[in-house]
Amino acid sequence: MNQISSPPFIIGVAGGSGSGKSTVSQQVLAAFGADMVSVVMQDDYYCDQTHLSPELRPQQNYDHPKAFEWPLLVQHVQALRNGESIEMPEYDFTLHNRSNRTIPVKPAPVIVIEGLFALYDPDLRDLMSLKIFVDTASDIRFIRRMQRDIEERGRSVESVIGQYLETVRPMHRQFIEPTKRYADVILPHGANEPAVDIITTKVASVIEQLKQS
Ligand code: CTP
Repeated sequence: MNQISSPPFIIGVAGGSGSGKSTVSQQVLAAFGADMVSVVMQDDYYCDQTHLSPELRPQQNYDHPKAFEWPLLVQHVQALRNGESIEMPEYDFTLHNRSNRTIPVKPAPVIVIEGLFALYDPDLRDLMSLKIFVDTASDIRFIRRMQRDIEERGRSVESVIGQYLETVRPMHRQFIEPTKRYADVILPHGANEPAVDIITTKVASVIEQLKQS
């Protein structure tokens, strides 16, 4: 157990699909461990789709801010900030819906909020002490997305291309890319080592300060 009782240092990690947000977040977690860092994944807050038939679920726009259950996400981040544990929903990309499990997340001195729209909501931004935008080139992001969606999310080449052109690309340009202006730090080549080193150095100094306060 950590001995820190001050409010947590909250980090937002935003960026387009396939940019490397999860890698940045997992590297911060790996550097300090689960007693010091908790990660909230915005993907897990996609709205419940149980009311839609399995045929309709893949056709939804999952790259629009309205696809997320914002009140629950904000409520959970505030709870963590107040030192309370949460039960984070778990999203299953193969089902296009929440699973029936939840993931327990403990309060920690450092909270990372990671997702396409991590820097979109002003209330969430106000809670953040460090705002990061992972700014990987779109061709690299598309290649990564194609590989991942086929290997891990049960998609076909045609469905990945169709979704990318219909929603992922236009929504990125309309909603996600503009949130870069809110970032304190922009990582130009995804989770590149020097940038992640600078972030973990900052987090280490924050943890030291929190221990002394
Ligand atoms: N998505 C989908 N089907 C769903 C729900 C979401 O295809 N039922 C897609 C959305 O189109 C969105 C993407 O999931 O673009 C969000 O995940 P992404 O940001 O690509 O993955 P992360 O691993 O969180 O990010 P990164 O690759 O940057 O680490």
